[in-house]
Amino acid sequence: MNSLDWLHYYQQNKTNRPEPKWGLPSPLDAKMQRALSRSLSHFQLGETGEGKFLIAQARAQLPDDTAYHQALELFVVEEGEHARLLQRLVHRFGGRTIRHHWTHTLFRFVRRALGFKFEIQLLVTAELVGTAYYRLLQTRTRDPVLDEACTLILKDEAQHVDFHADWFGDFQSRLLPLEREIWSAQFQLLFTAAAIVAWIDHGYCLKITGANRAEFFREARRECIRFLKQLSQRAARELNSLMAEITSADC
Ligand SMILES: [Fe+2]
Ligand SMILES: [Fe+2]
Repeated sequence: MNSLDWLHYYQQNKTNRPEPKWGLPSPLDAKMQRALSRSLSHFQLGETGEGKFLIAQARAQLPDDTAYHQALELFVVEEGEHARLLQRLVHRFGGRTIRHHWTHTLFRFVRRALGFKFEIQLLVTAELVGTAYYRLLQTRTRDPVLDEACTLILKDEAQHVDFHADWFGDFQSRLLPLEREIWSAQFQLLFTAAAIVAWIDHGYCLKITGANRAEFFREARRECIRFLKQLSQRAARELNSLMAEITSADC
């Protein structure tokens, strides 16, 4: 993984960001606005946080990779920017942000209980499920401001998935094929659980927009498959460069 490249990416990405045109009126009816404000407030809470635990864990696990620590800090800042956009959307649709929700409490408890690697895994599952959610909102609603905010968030989330795939690609290149299969199986189980929890929480809102369960899961599964493919490509690349190093050292 090239942590410096990621650090530069995050430094660049925080400049010249377009701002949605918040003043535009919403064409959505009151029922849909209410459902959206409730659902978006839960995602807003999920995107909030200083990431202190995550960054402390990264420093402890990878003490020499300071560029990765800094990139991770900027990644957390970017999630905070999503929280800001979502907060404005919640207000736009007449709702209020929240400070507690069972999904958030569950997410925080699980991710802190099982260490750094697991925390990153859980973050990836949230990114994949979130991507499916934002994409469906964007396709199914006709609110110009929601559309602009979703475009901004989706663009960042695609890079976040890439960032984590890079990190996991490094880790996977050191695993035996069987270990890799086991890791992939547990990741897919975790992803499925996260998607089910997300549907329980946001299904009502998505149904009001016209989306259905099958569509949500199809979209989320597509994201998961894409991530796993990225991961195996990166692991293969890492493995090839490792083999090349070994071969040149033997010569
Ligand atoms: Fe985000
Ligand atoms: Fe993200």
